Amino acid sequence: MLARLAAPWRGARRAPAAAQLPAWAQVGKRRRAHIGRVVALLEEWAEQMAVSQRERGRWLRAAWLHDALRDARLGSGTTHGAAAADRAASDGESDPGVLDAVRYHSVGYAGWDDVGRMLFLADFLEPGRRSRRKQRAKLAKRVPQDRDHVLQEVVAQQMRSQLRAGRPINLRTLEFWNSLVAG
Ligand SMILES: [Fe+2]
Repeated sequence: MLARLAAPWRGARRAPAAAQLPAWAQVGKRRRAHIGRVVALLEEWAEQMAVSQRERGRWLRAAWLHDALRDARLGSGTTHGAAAADRAASDGESDPGVLDAVRYHSVGYAGWDDVGRMLFLADFLEPGRRSRRKQRAKLAKRVPQDRDHVLQEVVAQQMRSQLRAGRPINLRTLEFWNSLVAG
């Protein structure tokens, strides 16, 4: 009874799942294809992990938004993730988990909920990237059963390649790593 009464209310409040790039996106053909593969991988995981429609919608909104300004000319000191998150917020996206997922998707963020974690994984593990295809496909397959361990492996891999190249580790990445191994 209660559920029946609550159902229309829940339905009315559910934010629509964006099914496409925002109108303000500036992306080339290859980027658009990458975003499509990220969306497809998240759809697959959402199905395998049997998440709610609402949660699935959050993942997909973040996926459509995350690289929407990747090919735009941005002011120095602004990342494409931060620019897209700010634009999405002014466009009405009010879910902090979705906005943080988009804002920090290139570096990681210790404060992420599932949206940020799933987007980060899909962005790295989508099948179109050239390097280590087989290894990434194996990791992608493991995500629905073993999400947090795969996340650790992906962050470790990214940090290792930064170290090998003599590049700095972003502090947010380090905090994210610490949060994963301390938890
Ligand atoms: Fe991406």
